[in-house]
Amino acid sequence: MKQRKIEDILDSVDRLPTLPTIYTKLTNLLQSPNATVKMISNVISEDQAIAVKVLKLVNSAFYSLPQKIGSLKHAIVISGSNQIRNLVLVASTIERFKELNSDSSFNMQRFWEHSIGCAVAARVLAETAYLKNPDDVFTGGLLHDIGKLVHAVYLNEEFTTIIADVNESGLPVIEAERKMLGCDHTYTGRVLATKWNLSQGTVDMIEHHHLSDPSAELTKEIAAVHIGNILCIALDLGSGGEKKVAVAQMKAWKILDIELNNLETIVERIGRLFKESVVILES
Ligand SMILES: [Fe+2]
Ligand SMILES: [Fe+2]
Repeated sequence: MKQRKIEDILDSVDRLPTLPTIYTKLTNLLQSPNATVKMISNVISEDQAIAVKVLKLVNSAFYSLPQKIGSLKHAIVISGSNQIRNLVLVASTIERFKELNSDSSFNMQRFWEHSIGCAVAARVLAETAYLKNPDDVFTGGLLHDIGKLVHAVYLNEEFTTIIADVNESGLPVIEAERKMLGCDHTYTGRVLATKWNLSQGTVDMIEHHHLSDPSAELTKEIAAVHIGNILCIALDLGSGGEKKVAVAQMKAWKILDIELNNLETIVERIGRLFKESVVILES
C-alpha cells in the first residue's frame, strides 16, 4: 500500500472533528469575571447529551460524593468552574467521536474503556504523588490516545493494516504507525488538541505520553499519564490496540517519587475506580 503523507491529511483540518460550540462558549464565558453559576449552567444545558454526561461524571466514582447530584448548578458549585470545563471537554469528546464510525478491526468500546482506564490510573498516580491538578491529569489521560481515534476514523484502511501489523509482529502501535504513516498518534493527537485550543498542559500530556522524545521536558503530569497508560494495559482495562505491555520508564517513576511498595494499593484502587467509572460510556 502506498504510504500517505499524514501532513496532507492533517492540513485539511476541516475533516477533523471540531468540539461542540458549547465548549468554546463555556471557555469564553469563564474568561469573564462576571460569569455566574446560572450562566454556566445555561450554556451547558444547550446540549442535553453533554449535560447528562457531565452529571454522570460528577456522580461517578472520582468524586465519591456522599449523595447524588441532581442538577447542573449544584454540580458546578461542587466541582468549580475549571473542573466543569474539563468535564464538558471529556463529555464533548466522547459524544463527538461516538457519532463517527470506524469499520476497522479497532474496537471503539474497548478504546474508550482504555481511555477511561488511563484517566483513572493517571489520576490515582497524580493524587498519590500529591500533584496540584489531578483533574487536569484525568483529562490528559482520557485524551492521551485521541490521535489513534483520528487514525481509526480518517485513515481507516491504513489503521486496519497497522493493527494487523501490531497483532502479528507485537510491535508497539507507535512503531507500526510510523512504519505505515511516517508519524504516530502522538503527533496527530497534538495537532487535534492544538486545533481544539486545549491547554498547553493537556497538549503536552497527549504529545509526550510515550516519552518517545528524549529532548522534551518531562513533567509530573506527563509521567502520570505515561505510567497510567502502561498500568491499564497491564491490567487489561479496555484496549488501545497494543499487543504487548511496554515497560514504564524509570525516570517517570522517579519524578513522581512514588514508593514502589505502594503499587499494590494503587493497582487495587485503579481497578475499583475503573469498574465504577465505565458507566459514563453508557448513553
Ligand atoms: Fe498512546
Ligand atoms: Fe494508550
